[in-house]
Amino acid sequence: MTRPIDQRRLRVGIVGGGRGAFIGAVHRIAAELDGDSLVVAGALSSDPATAAASAADWRLARSYASFEEMARTEARLPDGIDFVIIATPNHLHLPVARAFLESGIHVMCDKPLALSLDEGCEFARLVADSGRLFGLAHTYSGYPAVLEARALVANGTLGTLRKVHVEYLQDWLMDALEQTGQKQSSWRTDPALAGSGGALGDIGTHAHHLAEFITGQTVQSLSADVTHFVPGRRLDDDANLLLRFSGGAKGTMVCSQVCCGEENDLGIRVYGTRGALEWHQLEPNTLLFKPAGGAVQVRRTGKGFVSAEALAATRTPAGHPEGYLEAFATLYRSFAADVRRVARGEMPLRSYPGVEDGLRGLAFVAAALTSARDASRWTSLRD
Ligand SMILES: NC(=O)c1ccc[n+]([C@@H]2O[C@H](COP(=O)([O-])OP(=O)(O)OC[C@H]3O[C@@H](n4cnc5c(N)ncnc54)[C@H](O)[C@@H]3O)[C@@H](O)[C@H]2O)c1
Repeated sequence: MTRPIDQRRLRVGIVGGGRGAFIGAVHRIAAELDGDSLVVAGALSSDPATAAASAADWRLARSYASFEEMARTEARLPDGIDFVIIATPNHLHLPVARAFLESGIHVMCDKPLALSLDEGCEFARLVADSGRLFGLAHTYSGYPAVLEARALVANGTLGTLRKVHVEYLQDWLMDALEQTGQKQSSWRTDPALAGSGGALGDIGTHAHHLAEFITGQTVQSLSADVTHFVPGRRLDDDANLLLRFSGGAKGTMVCSQVCCGEENDLGIRVYGTRGALEWHQLEPNTLLFKPAGGAVQVRRTGKGFVSAEALAATRTPAGHPEGYLEAFATLYRSFAADVRRVARGEMPLRSYPGVEDGLRGLAFVAAALTSARDASRWTSLRD
């Protein structure tokens, strides 16, 4: 006999993330961090032997050779999974989500949502028809300092927003790594597996989401200059964009995977009529607040003066660094709480990125590519 959901940990499955994968293990740690959920099942690799070996590494109770079999079986088991995590390359997000959603299982999926805006629209219909929960792993919205930034914008501390600058710089694709067969670069530079955007899809969608999340405004139109610097590369590895936001703010975005010396340099600056904010992922527990005419403030996380939203997402005392894993875990905490709400017949809060955020990300990529093909013409994001 299985225990009622509120008396036990949530049971979680993962698709992807086996030996040699990048992000699956991060999902597992994050989902389990608060002790509320436990990963028990997986179809961890496209290769059945690797899937089995990886499941043994993680001491999973159940390992599957395919995600289809996993969805079918888990939906029938009395102690089947409560939700599944999708940590596969992008072309599998929709088929894997379909298998689980149509089996009645909630889904937390990695970004970008899908290969194209059209596929994203199909995805949104699938999620709506399923009546199940769907979360999208825009990790950076889980950082306490980012939640603090959002709260400061929302309570008017910055005044009217005028300007947003967001940048996401990496260097790992500055050479033709994909031509060596390296796994992560191979699929990320293949349009059939990654989608129409290269750097735009992989990291531009994160920057786009971060800017919208903090400002509370959506990107309405853009002008883009998009490049692939590495000869023979089939997708973009560098983009410079001008942005216009729904609330009147104007912005710039730089996203690139060919910037020598940059690891994972995501940063944002937001300027309003009364003050400004600055945050960098490499120094995640520090938010700079620059009041008009006043001294710059270093607003560190974990301090009593930060917003309730930021404090709720802080797990360690001030000065004890938190980062990427905890930000991911904050998304999982909200998602797991919704899984429990739905099981109790209550309305979910959906306080984590979802399919609509994913759709706007795909609309952003599509508009950027359209603009770039037409001499950087100003282009509206398709609704
Ligand atoms: N949120 C973030 O911060 C973040 C960071 C990195 C990657 N990502 C996203 O996560 C996803 C995975 O990226 P990655 O870098 O970990 O890729 P990866 O290539 O390292 O790993 C992909 C995994 O999926 C598995 N896989 C492929 N086909 C499968 C199938 N049919 N059944 C089961 N497993 C299958 C592979 O065997 C591998 O284990 C991508 O969508 C990427 O955009 C998000």
